[in-house]
Amino acid sequence: MIFFQDVKVMNNLNINLKSVKKICCIGAGYVGGPTMAVIAKNCPDIKVEVVDINQKRIEAWNDSNLDNLPVFEPGLSEIIQKSRNKNLSFSSNVEYSIKKADMVFISVNTPIKKTGIGAGQTSDLRWVESCARQICKSASGHTIVVEKSTLPVKTAKTIKDILDSSSYDNSDEVKTFSVLSNPEFLAEGTAINDLESPDRVLIGGDDLDAMNSLKDIYLKWIPENKIIFTNLWSSELSKLSANAFLAQRISSINSLSAICELTGADIADVANAVGMDSRIGSKFLKAGPGFGGSCFKKDILNLVYLSRYYGLNEVADFWQETITINSWQQIRIYKQIVEKLFGNLADKKIAILGFAFKENTNDTRESPAIEICRNLLNEGAFLNIHDCKVTKEIINRDLSLSESIKEELNWSFKEDVYEALEETDAVILITEWKLYKKINWKKILPKVKKPFWIFDTRSILNPKEIEILGINFWQLGYGKNK
Ligand code: NAD
Ligand code: UGA
Repeated sequence: MIFFQDVKVMNNLNINLKSVKKICCIGAGYVGGPTMAVIAKNCPDIKVEVVDINQKRIEAWNDSNLDNLPVFEPGLSEIIQKSRNKNLSFSSNVEYSIKKADMVFISVNTPIKKTGIGAGQTSDLRWVESCARQICKSASGHTIVVEKSTLPVKTAKTIKDILDSSSYDNSDEVKTFSVLSNPEFLAEGTAINDLESPDRVLIGGDDLDAMNSLKDIYLKWIPENKIIFTNLWSSELSKLSANAFLAQRISSINSLSAICELTGADIADVANAVGMDSRIGSKFLKAGPGFGGSCFKKDILNLVYLSRYYGLNEVADFWQETITINSWQQIRIYKQIVEKLFGNLADKKIAILGFAFKENTNDTRESPAIEICRNLLNEGAFLNIHDCKVTKEIINRDLSLSESIKEELNWSFKEDVYEALEETDAVILITEWKLYKKINWKKILPKVKKPFWIFDTRSILNPKEIEILGINFWQLGYGKNK
């Protein structure tokens, strides 16, 4: 292990490096795809191959119709169009790609374990371990292995142990490895911008040559002062910590949104006044239906698990509350809806606008819409669901966990927003798509049931404009709610 002060010294050393010519990225998901596309765009001399065991996903990345890419991200299709089949390729030939690569990124999924020790609390590392074994088997010569996935602290040790076992196999070939941690901080919906102009690039490791080889790649488009070196464990922990801090801000503002509704304060005004303190800052203070996405909950759970593992129960309890408030916010919203609709949703039709966990993505993982919709369906409501990018199949997959809930019987997918609103008793705005901000509510009015309710969980509508039309209106964190 190296120490932080040594790493600071390393930052300033000028060492001759082996330059990377071929990169293999294992995992063609929301991180692997966009990240490698941006590397390929900025490093035309490097051949970048993204590989995945999911053949359908690879086919979608290779689809000539760019609307069919598996990940929707503003600006992504343009980059794919320019780089694909030049220095960027997508394939399922994992073994061959690893063999040819100087540097292999591990960018696979790390969801929370469903069964066994640590179920519901820590990441399932089966995909990471399988990558390490595959690299150990297929690599040749010296290979730099980069953790791009978000991982529990000390996972680099597991990867190293597996890779080191290659020295015990029977082949004559000498294989050597360096393991680095290079967590990804992109947010979905702004991924391309985040990758082109990141706040920082974090490289953790104990092999300075390998660290500099990776730094050299980023230097093609990122200023040197934004690239920082740490040891492996600081890097792994920093990623979990950054997500925990961000999620904590959301739970903080969401907890205050409830106080606003009861006291007459307005959460937008409170967030503005608080955020203008330069020590606090204005970003990430938007109250809403709770954070979704595949990572915040998972990464905090990992932090909680790690804390308990080391006997730090108070630390674990502190971070756990961030998740507790998040779940509570979603239940709170659902209860408000039921209460306003006379405590009964049977025979009522409700429009759900937005199913993605945030705007500008087709990702629904941990979307607040799932929990809210499931609860409304359980109350007997019929839902008309619309989203700008999420498909009917994905919504069906997310909702049909219970056998009793069926498409057409309990809910219907609507391609058109105005059609989704027809004949409904209420509408719930869950994702902040721009389209929803422009809805002509006056035009809708004759086509909906009365009394009609709008529930705005993202504060995207102007209460005065709605109230003047005589529509019942509930907005999250709005002190003048009826
Ligand atoms: P994802 O599920 O979209 O993609 C992972 C891909 O890895 C899948 O396509 C899967 O088929 C593939 N895969 C799994 N095991 C494989 C193997 N052995 N060989 C080849 N392919 C394999 O996941 P994601 O959203 O891209 O996230 C990946 C990692 O990045 C996670 O650890 C996540 O926490 C982290 N992360 C995600 C985001 C985000 O915005 N989604 C941002 C930062 C970090
Ligand atoms: C988040 C982090 O922002 C990234 O830095 C990180 O790399 C990533 O997780 C990850 O590790 O996966 P992401 O989940 O894609 O990115 O999107 P965010 O913009 O962070 O939004 C997360 C959730 O919080 C969304 O549901 C969003 O609507 C909600 N949110 C965000 C709020 O409710 N209020 C806010 O002010 C900001």
